[in-house]
Amino acid sequence: MQDPKDVKDAFAGIASRYAVTNHVLSLGVDILWRRKVAKMISRRIPINILDVATGSGDLALEIQKRCPKAEVIGSDFCEAMLQQANKRGLKRTVLADALNLPFPENRFDVVTVGFGLRNMADWSEALSEMFRVLSSGGCVVVLDFSLPESVVCRKLYRFYLHKILPAVAGLITGKRSAYQYLGRTIESFPSGKDMCSLIESSGFNHAKFHSLSGGIATIYSAEKN
Ligand SMILES: C[S@@+](CC[C@H](N)C(=O)[O-])C[C@H]1O[C@@H](n2cnc3c(N)ncnc32)[C@H](O)[C@@H]1O
Repeated sequence: MQDPKDVKDAFAGIASRYAVTNHVLSLGVDILWRRKVAKMISRRIPINILDVATGSGDLALEIQKRCPKAEVIGSDFCEAMLQQANKRGLKRTVLADALNLPFPENRFDVVTVGFGLRNMADWSEALSEMFRVLSSGGCVVVLDFSLPESVVCRKLYRFYLHKILPAVAGLITGKRSAYQYLGRTIESFPSGKDMCSLIESSGFNHAKFHSLSGGIATIYSAEKN
């Protein structure tokens, strides 16, 4: 479990370079993953969308572009990250802890979380909060890192994740430890069927997953009712 204060401080320390560092480290592939989520969501023609742990707004901005008629709110507990989101064009942001969202029940028809759930102190509690603010018939979409299924790919990826990535990200951001933390959280985060079970244990139905880029990221979706 992550200490919320450490998480907040870590993201505040890299806020202004977070987005660009991601794009460099993933060679831009993270942009395609978020686009895929936004496209998936746009098919539902949603009206009210909440992007939890929106950070500097990468996912919310893609959704805002794809769903121009919807109200898209990005929430996060790190003010420095939200300031970046605002600067980059996210229209509505709310400073809020995902474990205690300041929204009434049934407020949104879609709730998303991109690379955020993994950083939270209690994954089940966070998913239950998302369930609470979703309207009946609404859907949750979780995008996060996972480990490749193939043994060889997993070995290579672990070398990249634990050795190369912290070194390169350390050079760009000056915060090598934040990226060592990234590798640790990916190792301990459930994926595939285990994540679907976790999502369903928070009240959702029909949880399913779609692996991306050989399994280094996964999109999960589930319905309320
Ligand atoms: C890796 S960033 C993800 C940003 C963005 N969603 C993206 O797609 O890149 C994780 C974000 O989760 C936020 N976060 C972690 N725990 C949180 C919590 N309990 N409540 C709200 N935000 C949280 C951090 O502040 C950070 O901005």
